[in-house]
Amino acid sequence: MKLTKYLLIAATAFQSLSFAAAQEKTIVVDVNTKTADINKNMWGVFFEDINMGADGGIYAELVKNRSFEFFRPTMGWKNLGPVEEANYLILNRQNKHASNPRYLQVSKDKATPIGLLNEGFRGMGVKEGLTYDFSVLYRQSKEGIKLKIELIDSSNQVIGSTVLNPSIADGQWHSQEVSFKATKTDPKAKLQVWFEGKGSLDLDMISLFPSDTWKARKKGLRADMVQVLADLKPGFLRFPGGCIVEGYDLAQRFQWKKTVGPIEQRQLIVNRWNSEFAHRLTPDYFQTFGLGFFEYFQLAEDIGAEPLPIINCGMACQFNSGEVVPLNELDEYVQDALDLIEFANGSVDTKWGKLRASMGHPESFNLKMIGIGNENWGPQYIERLKIFQNIIKKEYPEIEIIASSGTDPEGERFEFLDKELRAMNIDIIDEHFYRNPEWFLTNANRYDNYDRNTSKIFAGEYASHSKNSTKPEYKNNWEAALSEAAFLTGVERNADVVQLASYAPLFAHIDGWQWTPDLIWVDNLSVYLTPSYYVQKMFSTNKGSHVVELNLEGKSVTGQDGLYSSAVIDDDTKELIVKLVNINKDSELIAIDLKGIKKSQGNTTITTLRHEDPLAFNEVGKIPNVVPSMKELSYKSRKLILDVEGQSFNVIRIKL
Ligand code: AHR
Repeated sequence: MKLTKYLLIAATAFQSLSFAAAQEKTIVVDVNTKTADINKNMWGVFFEDINMGADGGIYAELVKNRSFEFFRPTMGWKNLGPVEEANYLILNRQNKHASNPRYLQVSKDKATPIGLLNEGFRGMGVKEGLTYDFSVLYRQSKEGIKLKIELIDSSNQVIGSTVLNPSIADGQWHSQEVSFKATKTDPKAKLQVWFEGKGSLDLDMISLFPSDTWKARKKGLRADMVQVLADLKPGFLRFPGGCIVEGYDLAQRFQWKKTVGPIEQRQLIVNRWNSEFAHRLTPDYFQTFGLGFFEYFQLAEDIGAEPLPIINCGMACQFNSGEVVPLNELDEYVQDALDLIEFANGSVDTKWGKLRASMGHPESFNLKMIGIGNENWGPQYIERLKIFQNIIKKEYPEIEIIASSGTDPEGERFEFLDKELRAMNIDIIDEHFYRNPEWFLTNANRYDNYDRNTSKIFAGEYASHSKNSTKPEYKNNWEAALSEAAFLTGVERNADVVQLASYAPLFAHIDGWQWTPDLIWVDNLSVYLTPSYYVQKMFSTNKGSHVVELNLEGKSVTGQDGLYSSAVIDDDTKELIVKLVNINKDSELIAIDLKGIKKSQGNTTITTLRHEDPLAFNEVGKIPNVVPSMKELSYKSRKLILDVEGQSFNVIRIKL
């Protein structure tokens, strides 16, 4: 139906341009006037363990509190059967094993089975016919207790079971694994571990993973969540955040060294989003670091993205404790940065390169950028940053340093930092903007007059926050996404200034979120893409190699008549790619005048994301409302005339 409409208009336009000329607005694209080169890694993703993004999210572990290290050691676990006082003991070997001090001792002198139930992260998503890998660390001096493993569905029916018989009895720790299939799909399954027989058994790292992880890696990542990232063809992966880098206080800051090596030796810490928002307390939110820095680098490599780690600059979150490390004690923090570069790029003969190799990646991860600090501000930040900058640039002049311009895209803090960072010649400044749709629309020209001779920009965290929504997930509505699209045409037009761009936050679990809006919503079994996701994807998969001049009545298109537009050329495919946003309620007749084009006929595709209701959103668990559709049309003149639908974002690809 719609295809016909486009073809007709195209044909009519070619035959009787004078008729259309009375109503149309003409956008002139000069294909030969290059205005900026585009960083091939410009459009990327920002990952943070917020909203159960890692634990309970992309990290596919199904058991919550597998090593009994949460503040309450048995959080997530419940007794099954006639448990007596002496049956379970939590032991703490703090002095000998500081990274994973606790374990569970099960002692039984009666044959009657007792057990423990693990509730998972808001249940466990289980799929019929899929194999599940149960594993455990155990220690025993004598054989006696065996484990019966059961998955139960939401109505407590067993939907998969197996037995694990700890096979070595030498008083040492061993790991053992057993696999079994689930017989039913249930998003809210649970795990029961029954202890049968008599004796004493020490247990730790009680774990259950699905076998359908990304690249079928054991104890890996949820494939569906990684796939939607890969589909964005991201240029970079920023990790691990966000405020999570800073921590509530310095003790709880993110320390990458504690997230690498064997997973049972990675020291768990509380997730800073656990208690950040009083209205969304998440007392069971911890960071197990099963997804640690090695896995982040590996994920970046898998999805073809440049790794972009951000590390703590010696300051805790200034909205929380605001602690800073004394300048004469900053060495440890700077050393962390240097060692991280060695971990990523160093040869296998170096200390940290060797660790990377031992984890399965002797080749370099080819790290090119590092972020120092997230949303830090004030002179105390600049003082610390200068020390990092001097030392890193001395040792690794080729590594680009990214520094924060604080929490807001304007105001006193921003002005101060922007000036200082440019004076320091920081490579890239990380700007954050969480603002309403009006801000995004009026800032489509934000970068038009930015300084082109000093630091470049990383639009590191942005999201349009619509107020016109009642439920949290409704905030990812079309009004918000459309305003992001309009703003991003300005980012693209200024690709010589803005080198990197990413929406934030990335993931949110429907039952475990703290912050909205978010790019991608998930439950235990499925992934739901928001209108904002599609906007990101339409930019990242149509990025082009350089920007060309595009004007409406001699001016960049930054909101005149409700239109926003930018154009790029893709040198590989030899295509002109025009992005066009119409925020008006009604459709607009637009002529795209291809100045400098040699051929005056050919085929084009137009991908459109639109909805007539600005408050439309893609509801979790339902067929999405706002999805792109693609049409083809042919043109027989240098002027391509389009009836651009109201409230739409369009990407037009024209073969040159
Ligand atoms: O994206 C959510 C949070 O927003 C990030 O952790 C922080 O950098 C910003 O304040």
